[in-house]
Amino acid sequence: MTQVEPSPELRTHIEKWLVPAILAAILAVLVAIYLSQGRTQLKSTGPNIAHGREDARSPVPLTPEHVDHVLNEMRGLMTALSGIQTARLSNDLAAIATTARLQSPAARGTPPSGLRQSLPSEFAAMSRELRNDFTFVAQAAQKGDLALADRHLSAAMAKCVACHEGYRLTLAE
Ligand code: HEC
Repeated sequence: MTQVEPSPELRTHIEKWLVPAILAAILAVLVAIYLSQGRTQLKSTGPNIAHGREDARSPVPLTPEHVDHVLNEMRGLMTALSGIQTARLSNDLAAIATTARLQSPAARGTPPSGLRQSLPSEFAAMSRELRNDFTFVAQAAQKGDLALADRHLSAAMAKCVACHEGYRLTLAE
């Protein structure tokens, strides 16, 4: 029986293209994995906040829109604290009053429909009291009482800490 050997030309051809072909296949697989991960991330609209398995905070299930709203409010609060601290450096009472007033209940308007009912009552109460603290900060700063403004701000920040220790957001089923 005669065995058909590949011609020397064909062999050099294969040798020349085998390694690039394998590399191209690996690259294609990596790109496919990368793209599929990107798609999963885009699909997730919920909070991507990591929490450990031993996380004892109570979950607060909300719709994606409500999660967006709450987290947006949170970032506003952080910005307000930063603004007040900066104004505090130059004892700029007017700036403290303006910044704090923007976080007061009167300035926040009504929350999106259904959000209030979805929040645990203790969570909602803490949130309300926090907003009231900002009103007190604004009033104290307006009166020129920096020490009192500081005390109300401390009371507000204690609520940031307490609520963050107690709750985390999840996506409602
Ligand atoms: C009534 C409850 C409550 C209060 C009060 C509260 N937070 Fe939050 N905050 C939350 C929850 C719940 C989350 C989401 C945490 C999670 O899911 O891990 C959050 C998240 C945040 C985030 C992350 C936002 C994001 O985009 O991921 C910031 C920043 C933040 N809070 C700032 C503040 C500051 C500053 C204060 C006080 C001035 C404050 N919060 C008061 C409940 C609260």
